[in-house]
Amino acid sequence: MDVSEIDDIKVFGETGVGWCASTLPNETVDDMGRPFVQEKGFTAADPRAPKRRVYDDPGVCSLREHLRAHNGIRGLEILEPHETERAAQVFFRDGFVVVRDVLSAAELERFRDASARVLKQILEIPGVGGRKYLTESYRLPHRYSYGTASASRHLLHDKVWASTIDLPTTTPILTRIFGGPDYKVLGAGGDLCLPGAIEYQALHSDGDREHFQMPPARIEQARRLGIELRAEDAAAEQDYRTLQRIIERTPPVVTVNFLMTAMTSENGPIRQIPGTQGRAGYPPSPANEPEWMRLSTLVGAPAGAAIFRDTRAWHGGTPNLSREVRAMPNVEYMAPWYEDPNFQPAMPYEVWATLSPHAQQISMLTRFSPGVWPAGAGVMHPLAKDRRAAKESSARGMS
Ligand SMILES: [Fe+2]
Repeated sequence: MDVSEIDDIKVFGETGVGWCASTLPNETVDDMGRPFVQEKGFTAADPRAPKRRVYDDPGVCSLREHLRAHNGIRGLEILEPHETERAAQVFFRDGFVVVRDVLSAAELERFRDASARVLKQILEIPGVGGRKYLTESYRLPHRYSYGTASASRHLLHDKVWASTIDLPTTTPILTRIFGGPDYKVLGAGGDLCLPGAIEYQALHSDGDREHFQMPPARIEQARRLGIELRAEDAAAEQDYRTLQRIIERTPPVVTVNFLMTAMTSENGPIRQIPGTQGRAGYPPSPANEPEWMRLSTLVGAPAGAAIFRDTRAWHGGTPNLSREVRAMPNVEYMAPWYEDPNFQPAMPYEVWATLSPHAQQISMLTRFSPGVWPAGAGVMHPLAKDRRAAKESSARGMS
């Protein structure tokens, strides 16, 4: 770790952070920080990754050239915030939609400062064995989640994240997608990759089994969205085709990711596979993923834009071969009928009290009682064992 690099860290433009050659390709760490290479699942190794984490390495250079020539979805639509109806259509069709100018210049600057401030907390913890940084438990090198790296699991105690819950540019689109204003805040965080994140993250869908529940409130939501149902009674049996439409049109969770930088062919643009949001099957493993899926990324989405994502749609991180951090903090929302098995309240009452009436309404579940600070909030750490320790000691301090 170079102290001056970390002190001046920015989440847009050129930076000296990242590109740690001592961090081996595909190396992750367990709860305790012990390095290993994972063969399966969400942090599975990328069998096609370059052999060295070095900007000028020939393998890195040829991948960069390939991405410059081919990366990105052809004809990616980028909408304006006022195009609510079109945004919903594209979202339901593809499982995601990109909307530009969601943040004003002042909001973007504030979110960039906050994203850099929290990233600095993660990176200033020194790495071991000559590595510049600690890798986050069970993630690929140089990739971090603002949510899971927080000892409270979310960043809703941070006023910048919390004040982004209800924006004039996002609320109308979310209300249209959820068929009304009674959706709820699930959490907030987002993710980032440093320059030198040379691996593809495996394609995955967030969550799984809960996606196929059919409680009456989900059928009610479908009715509000205009899906033609067989009977007035929400508990009535629906035919298979109607059920499939309901599953596709009622996402359990919608994430809004805010882009701190433009997504370029080489700075780790998120990849999204269109039309995969209602599927019961699994995405291909890294070894079996076709090249067109590896190139199915949101290149061209500008800074200040947001990506509205149905988190079921297959997605994954891609290589950041640039000299720029690619950060996209987020807010996560859940459908009125959805109960998340891992839900954890994360917003202090005192933060909640500063929000707009709509933001307060949709944050009721995640709110704590007055005077209670969420255990672990404020502590960022890459290792699961240190996050647990911070959470336990702050819980003890409160009792
Ligand atoms: Fe994900």
